[in-house]
Amino acid sequence: MVDTRVNLNGITLDNPVIPASGTFGFGKEFAELYDINCLGTFSFKGTTKEPRFGNPTPRIAECTSGMINSVGLQNPGVEHVISNELKELKEYFSKPVMANVSGFSIDEYVYTCKKIDEAPQVGWIEVNVSCPNVHGGGMSFGTTPESAAEVTKAVKAVTTKPVYIKLSPNVTDIVSVAVACEEAGADGISLINTLLGMRIDLKTKKCVIANKMGGFSGPAIFPVALRMVYQVYDAVKIPIIGMGGVSTAEDVIEMILAGATAVQVGAANLVDPFACKKIIDQLPECMEKYGINKLRDIIGGAH
Ligand code: FUM
Repeated sequence: MVDTRVNLNGITLDNPVIPASGTFGFGKEFAELYDINCLGTFSFKGTTKEPRFGNPTPRIAECTSGMINSVGLQNPGVEHVISNELKELKEYFSKPVMANVSGFSIDEYVYTCKKIDEAPQVGWIEVNVSCPNVHGGGMSFGTTPESAAEVTKAVKAVTTKPVYIKLSPNVTDIVSVAVACEEAGADGISLINTLLGMRIDLKTKKCVIANKMGGFSGPAIFPVALRMVYQVYDAVKIPIIGMGGVSTAEDVIEMILAGATAVQVGAANLVDPFACKKIIDQLPECMEKYGINKLRDIIGGAH
């Protein structure tokens, strides 16, 4: 019997599979389809201080082997998330959950992380400094080592739970950003968020997405994500959660060999709501096929 368990900052996950923020809501709709307690955990929808309606539509464009989204951090705001979403979550998810937080200023990150840190169900805080779909915040905090470090330091000063910083691939040197976050006190790094992309409609000759550009995700970005996880693993000691185009049990194992301790699955949930369950079900057989006994023993094994 193979062992799929991994450990994230002292919390044991039954397996490394985590639905990525923005592709799983607060889990409710998926819990109607299957028992989501089979997941390692899940990262809930990016939460901000104030409620947000999100960007104008169209917000989605299809691409070969992927998709572009420009949702714009639509969410009900932190007070509602704590008093409604997390309250309801207790009824269908009994594991610690990962809280994904976004902001438009350091003060907003601090406010929201401090509030969310107090919620007993939250096991980890994933700070998103990499959303490509909003102006005046989001990705702008993740594009220099200095600004990413500033957010990390400020959030760490007001929280008690492990803090992961979710990084953008839309930079020339993701390693320097990851190292700056580690030096500023981050407990882990999540990477990668989506790649900035766009599509043009040949009939209208205009951009498909109302906001013109959006975040490209899906299987097409997997090699880029894998390369970045591999590079960051060489440079930091804190755990990495790898993500970007993961859609099979083989992809999960590849990510772990590159250096990920756990793996998030994003766009695949939008193609098939059972994607994470299928990956979890297939993982033991896939491990046996490749002669892997304990998943945690192969973290960074490709180095
Ligand atoms: O636009 C969005 O809600 C997506 C956020 C992200 O990619 O970080």
